[in-house]
Amino acid sequence: MKTLARGVIACCRELAEFSEEPDRTTRTFLSPPMRDVHRVLGAWMERIGMRVWIDAAGNLRGLFGEPEKPRLIVGSHLDTVPDAGAFDGILGVVMGIALAEMNPGMAIEVIGFSEEEGVRFGFPFIGSMAFTGTLRQNSSVFEAITAFGLDPANLPAARFARESVAYLEFHIEQGPVLESLDTPLAAVEAIAGQSRGVLTFQGAANHAGTTPMNLRRDALGAAAAWIIEVENYARSHDGLVATVGSLNVFPNAGNVIPGEVRASLDVRHADDSKRLIAASDLLTQAEVIAAQRGVRVASETRMEQCTVPMDRNLTQLLSDSGGGLPKMTSGAGHDAMVVAPFIPSTMLFLRSPAGISHHPDESVLPEDVEAALETGARFIESLGGRYA
Ligand code: HGY
Ligand code: MN
Ligand code: MN
Repeated sequence: MKTLARGVIACCRELAEFSEEPDRTTRTFLSPPMRDVHRVLGAWMERIGMRVWIDAAGNLRGLFGEPEKPRLIVGSHLDTVPDAGAFDGILGVVMGIALAEMNPGMAIEVIGFSEEEGVRFGFPFIGSMAFTGTLRQNSSVFEAITAFGLDPANLPAARFARESVAYLEFHIEQGPVLESLDTPLAAVEAIAGQSRGVLTFQGAANHAGTTPMNLRRDALGAAAAWIIEVENYARSHDGLVATVGSLNVFPNAGNVIPGEVRASLDVRHADDSKRLIAASDLLTQAEVIAAQRGVRVASETRMEQCTVPMDRNLTQLLSDSGGGLPKMTSGAGHDAMVVAPFIPSTMLFLRSPAGISHHPDESVLPEDVEAALETGARFIESLGGRYA
């Protein structure tokens, strides 16, 4: 299993080379490097006897075993954030193929979702929404699908098969908890909800040299004051995280007072009511600050995702399969939160050294991948026994 674990890590690092940018890993929805990922992983799947296809959403699909038998779905996402690490998402797909190669005791469908991060179109989960039949009509997404050589008319065929009895996602924790507990693995019992949106601050562009300070309507000044308030608010509410990760300034010239600023907002909390109150409070804060500065502000909600519990029985089985793994809530969003309302789902977290993720220094330890493969193999054996 040691060799297989090292092979999994080597494969993830090889796939990280497939990027839209020359010197860093960036792979967004149906971008050209996604074809390379499909090619490399598809060839491995075929080598071990899996039936391989790409569905209309660009999800890579591989079935090990008979189509009419109850199947475990093992999946995660193939896309990345800009300047990503080598393991977020793809590790879960590679581990699924590695488990299929170990000739498991039940049919396994491995799925590499085409888009989970939400980078290209500002909203996430396109791949898993197509898999669950919840992807709404969207002209930009459908154009991208067509441009990639796929047909949006075939999206209904991307839905999961009725033989799908459970969903398992391996994923790096992407935070500091497991390392702080000196523990390699955890079974995930819930995934925290998230609210994502974009705020547009509308002021007045003007000459940086001739416009007195008291006559300005500086959109960036207003946004900056609000961003500090976002941080202060989140710091003062337990369990809340709030982030402004993207900022677009117009016209974005050093000698022009910014006329318009678009700022993202990402708010998360395990308790949905606290998350929704926080998001509402932060929008109100933006309006107060904008009014004080003679600036207008408008907001657009990009996603409201509630906290999703994992299947209690599967999570217990996963914990038992790992010899009594700890259970935890995920602060990061995952495809499992889209799948769980349709197929009983659970996740296995692997420790993130130094708690680093969404960064090139993201990593996993070979011994943790080995332990996760062993846990996954025992989980599949027990689950297969329920459908024998
Ligand atoms: O942003 C997230 O929660 C995940 O990494 N896509
Ligand atoms: Mn991510
Ligand atoms: Mn991820």
